[in-house]
Amino acid sequence: MHKSIADCLRTHYAELQGYVSAGMESDKTEEKLFMNANENPYELPGLEGFNRYPEPQPKALAKAYADLYGVRTDQLVMTRGADEAIVTITKLFCEPQKDAVIICPPTFGMYGVNASAMPCGKIEIPLIKQEKTYALDSEAIIAAAKDDSKNVKLIYICTPNNPTANSFDHAAIVNIIKNVEGHAIVILDETYAEFSKQGSLTPRLNEFPNLLILRTLSKSYSMAGMRMGCFLCADTDFVALAKAKALDAYPIPRASVEAALHVMSDEIREHAQANIDILLTERDRVAKELEAMSQIRTVYESDANFILVEMDNPADFIEFAKSRNVILRDFSKGEFTKDCIRISIGTPEQNDIVLGLLKDF
Ligand SMILES: Cc1ncc(COP(=O)(O)O)c(C=O)c1O
Repeated sequence: MHKSIADCLRTHYAELQGYVSAGMESDKTEEKLFMNANENPYELPGLEGFNRYPEPQPKALAKAYADLYGVRTDQLVMTRGADEAIVTITKLFCEPQKDAVIICPPTFGMYGVNASAMPCGKIEIPLIKQEKTYALDSEAIIAAAKDDSKNVKLIYICTPNNPTANSFDHAAIVNIIKNVEGHAIVILDETYAEFSKQGSLTPRLNEFPNLLILRTLSKSYSMAGMRMGCFLCADTDFVALAKAKALDAYPIPRASVEAALHVMSDEIREHAQANIDILLTERDRVAKELEAMSQIRTVYESDANFILVEMDNPADFIEFAKSRNVILRDFSKGEFTKDCIRISIGTPEQNDIVLGLLKDF
């Protein structure tokens, strides 16, 4: 049996007529008199251009993303952050009360939340805990995806993984993608790929018909506030369908487009890369200092801009840090992250504050 991406789509998408916005009917980049979208003709001072709706999928931005990720413009769908990509993908593939997604906890919570919102099934195949890192349970993932009674549509793999911070071997990921072809689609979340020594699988996108990759400007390009992300897929028919049928009318705000184009200029990209380099040096310094602290039991290997640590009295420490105006993420009650907290890497000064708090605690 060979199932293409189109075969995995919820069946009603074949018939569904997507909304045709005024912005889709005419090209806003051309000089024309636009009287078709009930926009206000008057621009307000300092807000020039914002009286007009943005392009639904801005062409200049698509070109910039395509150049950034080394794909073609017809292989990407722009969304408000990777978060909206997850919402859109879940909506496209997961039939409520019937289909299921595979999630490998501990991992990013939005995969499960979106599945529950449909609602569709969540099959949890926990990561295998190793001494200082975590591994995918490839055999169990492949077996579940191939079990037709489980109706698995999507398999989420996050690398580097949030909150554990480690990357998974590309060979292991490719093995899963290949083995589940015809059964399920792998959603590879590369939100933190720019921090990773192992790098990205995006250059290999065209090898895998059942692969979708999530990318974002939020982390490595310091753009969390602008909500800019996308998903990538080699299947251009699917990409066209997703754009036509599954997105909001004007998903990408004008101000975000302008900011994103600026970010992707050579000058700012170099700046962003220099920041990444500093963050990685700092991460290694922080990890080393944490290793030496008696209340820290495990410093998990990190290939990202955050570190997961297992420690004594984690909840008390989180409260102590809060009392000193430092907010950390508490995972200590999680089934798969007992006694763990997650520390985002900041500037050297910010990191020193966190390390100082641990010493005072
Ligand atoms: C693994 C992972 N995926 C996706 C996201 C969402 O990213 P965005 O800001 O692009 O919506 C996050 C945010 O923390 C994340 O950790």
